[in-house]
Amino acid sequence: MHTVKAIYPGTFDPLTNGHLDLIARGAKIVDHLVVAILRNSEKAPLFTVPERVEMITEATRVLGNVSVETFDGLLVDFCREQGAKAVLRGIRAISDYEYEFQMAMMNRKLDPELETLFMMPAEKYSYVSSRLIKSVFELGGDVSTLVPPLVVERLKAKVAGRS
Ligand code: PNS
Repeated sequence: MHTVKAIYPGTFDPLTNGHLDLIARGAKIVDHLVVAILRNSEKAPLFTVPERVEMITEATRVLGNVSVETFDGLLVDFCREQGAKAVLRGIRAISDYEYEFQMAMMNRKLDPELETLFMMPAEKYSYVSSRLIKSVFELGGDVSTLVPPLVVERLKAKVAGRS
């Protein structure tokens, strides 16, 4: 049987409704979607990798063909290990395009067999990023319609734990 497995890689610090929207869209067009969290990100993360795994696992539980993994090193190597034919990435605005284009072309150079699929999240999430969520939340802003409820709870606990 011909099945298509795709990897949706990222930092997910934290998962947003934009990510979730994309996961749901991706899961409709591939047989299996693996959300893959980069372990050795250069960015100093707010949430640990296990915390991010937990949040994504919980938020995607209703989707039967989605699983969560972590990876280190090159994405193309992880895709090969997983037997995945495609990488899924979201494009929100033209400003995302250049970075995404460079990554897609570099990944194609490293593995010509691997395809990158771009999808657009719902317009209502087109301005949402993990970076903005963190900074708005830390300044007391309401992000409750932009991230899953369990992420709001984790953000509250994280910020309370710091003070
Ligand atoms: O959500 P992000 O932070 O934009 O995700 C970036 C990610 C994790 C997709 C990217 O940094 C990545 O694939 N890193 C793994 C290292 C790699 O394969 N680099 C070469 C491709 S440019």
